[in-house]
Amino acid sequence: MKRSITTLSFVLCVLCIAKQSECYKILAIIATPSYSHQIPFRQLWLELHNRGHEILLVTTNPIPNINSPNFTQINLSQSYKVWRALNFVEMRFNGESWLQIMEKYGISTCLACMENLFNNKEFKNVYAPDSDAKFDILLTEYHCGPASAGLAHRFDVPIIALSSTELTAVNEYIVGGLVLPSHESTWELENHTGSNSPFFKRLWNFVTFWRFLHSFYTEMFSANQQLAEKYLGPLPPLIDIMKNTSMLFVNQAAATTPARPQLSNVISFTSFHIQDKLPPLPKDLQKFVDGAENGFIYFSLGSNAMSSALPMEIQRVFCDVFATLPYRVVWKYDKDLPGKPDNVYTAEWLPQQSILARPNVKLFIYQGGRQSSDEAIHYGVPLLGFAILGDQDYQVGRMEVLGVGKRLDIRTVTKEALKSSIIELITNKEYKERIINIRNIVQDTPYDSVKNLAWWTEYVIRTKGAPHLRSTITSQPWCQRYDLDIVAFLTIVAFLIASSTLYLIVKLRIYFHKQICPSQKLKAN
Ligand SMILES: *[C@@H]1O[C@H](CO)[C@@H](O)[C@H](O)[C@H]1NC(C)=O
Ligand SMILES: *[C@@H]1O[C@H](CO)[C@@H](O)[C@H](O)[C@H]1NC(C)=O
Ligand SMILES: *[C@@H]1O[C@H](CO)[C@@H](O)[C@H](O)[C@H]1NC(C)=O
Ligand SMILES: *[C@@H]1O[C@H](CO)[C@@H](O)[C@H](O)[C@H]1NC(C)=O
Repeated sequence: MKRSITTLSFVLCVLCIAKQSECYKILAIIATPSYSHQIPFRQLWLELHNRGHEILLVTTNPIPNINSPNFTQINLSQSYKVWRALNFVEMRFNGESWLQIMEKYGISTCLACMENLFNNKEFKNVYAPDSDAKFDILLTEYHCGPASAGLAHRFDVPIIALSSTELTAVNEYIVGGLVLPSHESTWELENHTGSNSPFFKRLWNFVTFWRFLHSFYTEMFSANQQLAEKYLGPLPPLIDIMKNTSMLFVNQAAATTPARPQLSNVISFTSFHIQDKLPPLPKDLQKFVDGAENGFIYFSLGSNAMSSALPMEIQRVFCDVFATLPYRVVWKYDKDLPGKPDNVYTAEWLPQQSILARPNVKLFIYQGGRQSSDEAIHYGVPLLGFAILGDQDYQVGRMEVLGVGKRLDIRTVTKEALKSSIIELITNKEYKERIINIRNIVQDTPYDSVKNLAWWTEYVIRTKGAPHLRSTITSQPWCQRYDLDIVAFLTIVAFLIASSTLYLIVKLRIYFHKQICPSQKLKAN
């Protein structure tokens, strides 16, 4: 009896320890007030929770209906005020490039979001010096707030950086990756990159991009350092904390991204946010799309750009063309559309995936959002892209290169161009075939990518930050990383050799000339 009790308590104890060692406390922060930055990671939070871990998620879009004592959410939705103040459509029409936008508004916007994060009452209780909150890992977005990396120091935990689209070059640089200004993967340069860019274009890209990186790096980090220290007290340089980033989870699909050298601690994933169970369409919309005999077109500029902010004459171009089409159109339009044609349905909010999953949807006219591209590929719907901001030029460019869509310029679109593009995309079956082919490649994976990311998260905790996977280039200055100091040295040496040889030749010629000339003079005499 006594023996069996000892055995039983031993087994219980082992179970208890095993359970404990596997139950981690996870702090996850996505402070960018943009739905598209939040949804790619929701499945990961749910999966980690299902595995028995405790989650504290600080987000601008809390997941609805979570009722578990081990899954706490802090609502940062006030940050949307900061974001809504930016009129991206107007910026596009003013011809501002993404780098200019980042320099002009990026830093102040990010700081305002970080301020909102650190100033949040609930969150303050978590990180206050007298708080006994403990975590095993921090997962945070780097896009918009290096300040959040300060929390890794506060809680003494490894960091996993999250990116809802391809990495930014600043982040790539910090963790020791390659900065390639003219490579197609450098989305921040919008449509200025490409595989065969001419020399002067690449020169322009090089100078513009490195100048931007330098000024952004300097300003962004000194401002974030100040902010983080205001709330957390003295910290090591945020850059040094970020250089120690253990791993990066980046939303990119190999089938749609130009291949490039990649760090060993970058783990790609894609299309997590595709829903298994789609919400039904609102009744009137259901009736509208079911009644579309020739099919329908779905038109949305996403959640960051408002269709109503388009200049009136551009809105008219769309309305006039839509009115002449044999298809119906569902348009995500945030106000009452003046002069709405009869075959157009508008609503401020629409269940996008449920719409794209309809069998009679023919075309998706969009702004080139990363998540929207993934959805279009998943549901096999050809694309017509009008880029507005951020990585959207890059995305619509990719879709064109892959042959699954076309791109037009929202500022200069004409009725003829719009109509012929729509007709071509719908009637030429090759677009549809190619997008289904891409979908098959994207879905052909050896593992479930949500479970894969959850596994890597646990791996980083188990290996105390997986230091063996970090690039050792992070500590090198930029000129050393690309051996530019060597190139400069060799250029100077080559120049010196060439110029002294030239000097010598000239000198010798003058010398011999003088030697010969006097004798000629003598002869003449
Ligand atoms: C988050 O806060 C906003 C505004 O304070 C509120 O409208 C929204 O319902 C909140 N979300 C959740 C899930 O509590
Ligand atoms: C919450 O986590 C604790 C361990 O930290 C565990 O004992 C408990 O069962 C979990 N509760 C739920 C509802 O998952
Ligand atoms: C980039 O796009 C703009 C308009 O969106 C256009 O004026 C410019 O010529 C394009 N540049 C390249 C290199 O394609
Ligand atoms: C970064 O990691 C190295 C090695 O693990 C450690 O010595 C250093 O203190 C860390 N730096 C910061 C700022 O955490």
